[in-house]
Amino acid sequence: MKNYLKQDPWCIIEEGWHPQENKITESLMSLGNGRMGQRGNFEEQFSGETLQGNYIAGVYYPDKTRVGWWKNGYPEYFAKVLNACNWIGIHLKVGEEEVDLHTAKHVSAFRRVLDMQGGTLFRSCEVELNNGKQIRIESLRFCSMAEDTAGAIKYSVTPLNFSGTISFEVFVDGDVKNSDSNYDEKFWDAVLNDAGHNSGMVTVSTRKTNFHVCTAFAFTMYENSVEMEFQGKPTLKDKYAGVTVNIEAKQNVTYTMYKYAVNLSSLNFSIDNLPNEAKKILKSITSKGFESMLLDHQQVWADKWALSDITIEGDIMAQQGIRFNIFQLNQTYTGEDARLNIGPKGFTGEKYGGSTYWDTEAYCIPFYLSTAPEKVARQLLLYRYNQLDKAIENAQKLGFSNGAALYPMVTMNGEECHNEWEITFEEIHRNGAIAYAIYNYTHYTADYSYLEEAGAEVVLAIARFWSQRVNFSTDKNKYVMLGVTGPNEYENNVNNNWYTNYLAAWCLNFAIEVMEYLKAKSPENYHRIVEKIKFDETHELKQWRTIASNMYLPFDAKSEIILQQEGYLDKEQILVKDLPESSRPLNQKWSWDRILRSCFIKQADVLQGIYFFEEDFDLDTITRNFHFYEERTVHESSLSPCIHCILAAKIGDYEKAYEMYLRTSRLDLDDYNNDTEDGCHITSMAGTWLSIVQGFAGMRVVNSSLHFNPYLPQQWMQYSFKITFRKALLKLTITKDRIEIENQSGISTVLSVYDQEYKLDANSTLVI
Ligand code: BGC
Repeated sequence: MKNYLKQDPWCIIEEGWHPQENKITESLMSLGNGRMGQRGNFEEQFSGETLQGNYIAGVYYPDKTRVGWWKNGYPEYFAKVLNACNWIGIHLKVGEEEVDLHTAKHVSAFRRVLDMQGGTLFRSCEVELNNGKQIRIESLRFCSMAEDTAGAIKYSVTPLNFSGTISFEVFVDGDVKNSDSNYDEKFWDAVLNDAGHNSGMVTVSTRKTNFHVCTAFAFTMYENSVEMEFQGKPTLKDKYAGVTVNIEAKQNVTYTMYKYAVNLSSLNFSIDNLPNEAKKILKSITSKGFESMLLDHQQVWADKWALSDITIEGDIMAQQGIRFNIFQLNQTYTGEDARLNIGPKGFTGEKYGGSTYWDTEAYCIPFYLSTAPEKVARQLLLYRYNQLDKAIENAQKLGFSNGAALYPMVTMNGEECHNEWEITFEEIHRNGAIAYAIYNYTHYTADYSYLEEAGAEVVLAIARFWSQRVNFSTDKNKYVMLGVTGPNEYENNVNNNWYTNYLAAWCLNFAIEVMEYLKAKSPENYHRIVEKIKFDETHELKQWRTIASNMYLPFDAKSEIILQQEGYLDKEQILVKDLPESSRPLNQKWSWDRILRSCFIKQADVLQGIYFFEEDFDLDTITRNFHFYEERTVHESSLSPCIHCILAAKIGDYEKAYEMYLRTSRLDLDDYNNDTEDGCHITSMAGTWLSIVQGFAGMRVVNSSLHFNPYLPQQWMQYSFKITFRKALLKLTITKDRIEIENQSGISTVLSVYDQEYKLDANSTLVI
């Protein structure tokens, strides 16, 4: 666990430079706006430990899969979100010496601050160069939330002990690589570049996928607050455009460059028009100016915080932790484009390729449902609807028919592109999470239009898959599901994973309900769908009912424990508390076969099912299974602690709930798993939000109304959060002696607190 950042309610602050932690800080201080993102890299040259990263949502490269022994069914490629053109670059020279914090003689007064309230990254430092000259550097930058193709930087240099030549080479550089490239290839080809005296641009295209991205910049220079005239000298190189300005700098005078940049991709603009469109947007932001762009950007952030902030009093670490999670989620996904989704690392690193996992449906949807306009979660659902044909094709390739769909475990464009067949391929439970998210959205919002227009088709195709994926065991006289991997990836290719079987049965029942609903309430859509998918109502509904009610669900009658899978109790039963510290984390210390043979669990599996379908289980069952499985769980997936926090709170084990909360909330800030340098765990950040709202505040939607069962962790003085439920905006504050629910909208609502029902009029407050 690292502890080098300052505690602050709104900022992540590195005071004094920590070069050995630089890659971690770069991940933590990433900025994004849903369309693009940038790690907290330095603008000037840096030859020390760094992972350069600038990512454009949806622009990917299909990197050929690397395996020793190719087998049928392996995906051809692993999609990778690309490290794209570096738009922040400014080479700085003092005399003949290039400023590089790694090689400089001395760096002092270093400060790097991510301001989460306003979405900016600030850095200041004093640098003594090897030539004895000292300068102060200050930079402030943001990826605009208001104009999502644009970013801007205010970059100032002050000579502290000399007057003399300082040269700025402002550039964009598309000659960049992914550090995770399978064959050490570069993914970009040059298309064109151009530079003038104060501007330049580079267009590059991706190999194979042929995305074109045009990155353009323009800049202005100021001496203190007076704009300078200058004649920059252009430099063009392969995929590179730069402009050099030499300044005869005076001691203690500050020279400030405003660099405006845009990143436009062929996802949103026609290839031929990219340079012109880039120039147009660049002109508009340059004339708007840095300060005014910043105000627009901060206004968008203010609006986001007004809906999604959580305040915690009495525990600054917890406050900083939760805001960091909310900040990252909001800058990763904005719901503007249904072709985009949420990579497990968002825009903060290359790992997981920026692709979509079941994480979105299982963890992220509830966050956006409650804290953003309805459209945002709907767009995430539409993403899957738009990929339904590909999911049907996927299933066909594996021998399924009749419109059965198997959504990929990892995808960019609807095709399966995971890179670890043995682990991920058999996690067919992802199909269930997608159906569950449709249920969740509809139940939460009461907006049936998505279900009617699109979601029903997804649910039905998924139901068809399950009905073909099971087989009838004459031995058990039940339907069974063989050869799967549950969410617990420390078991592979097991038979009858309880979670998968339970979820599949639920999906089949849900699909039946959906058809009944459509028939009664939306006959036009009913007929449209029956026709489109050639639905054989009598046969299919009957078959689904039979399977759902005869699904094999492994259970140990003696201990009354749900079995994670058949045979789970044959394993040597050891508890995590009895594992020596030296064998943790298992995935780094044990051989893979030893992990697979052991009873140890990576992340919630049975408990994931109990979490989804809590209403199906009594408190005793939840408590018994929670204790049994939690004691065997090593939480080596970042998605694990949140589910345990919520269930621990449900059964009243508040100490465990808080322990689990701490693990999720500051996972990246404290580099708990020693892997933040690869990027932040964006999707599990939604789990942190869930831990407070569903865990500590006990929020559930039961029979169409909100229920709360709040308690205050003893470490806190009070906490407060907002949620939007069916257009009503509610602010809950939980203190030591009261619960306050403020309806900040013009819509009245009915809700329950500790099972007591209350009517909350528009713009009124309930105090309990
Ligand atoms: C987890 C998966 C998850 C993936 C991406 C893995 O470590 O086990 O459940 O989908 O990470 O977050």
